[in-house]
Amino acid sequence: MYLWTKLFHVLFVIAWMATVFYLPRFLVNLAEVGEQPAVRERLALMGKRLYRFGHVMFGIAFVLGLTLWMHFDRSGGWLHAKLTVVALMLAHFIITGRWLKRAAAGGALPSPTTLRWYNEIPLLLTIAILWLVYFKPF
Ligand code: HEM
Repeated sequence: MYLWTKLFHVLFVIAWMATVFYLPRFLVNLAEVGEQPAVRERLALMGKRLYRFGHVMFGIAFVLGLTLWMHFDRSGGWLHAKLTVVALMLAHFIITGRWLKRAAAGGALPSPTTLRWYNEIPLLLTIAILWLVYFKPF
């Protein structure tokens, strides 16, 4: 059961991460779209649906992660460090969702260049998580 739980944990993590990596691309597109209300509306709707999907995927990955922790006694300092980085990733995801809502309502977004840098943050956080999970340095 341990390996099955881990397999599904990683599967739902992959699904959530797909949204974490892709949602900021919607922001860049929204910031660059200019005066094209139909395109803006379509991008905002797609972003909203993907954001909702991401919440469900995160919820399932989270429950499976907790199961690994509680039932299979996979714990240690590395897990606490990992959960801190996961919390940062979740904060990034939620900020992205807020900016999407703001853009959908016609509000201003950071510049496309800032958003491109913002887009790179999950990559660094993912490397940190994978390092903690595989090296278990403490
Ligand atoms: C949401 C809260 C999370 C909790 C409580 C949690 C907890 C855990 C635990 C206890 C394990 C088992 C480790 C082992 O048996 O060696 C695990 C495995 C793993 N977690 Fe998470 N995790 C969470 C989120 C994430 C996220 C967001 C990612 C990636 C971005 C992630 C990536 C992984 C990977 C790749 C493994 C498999 C390691 C292997 O192949 O042995 N987890 N997780």
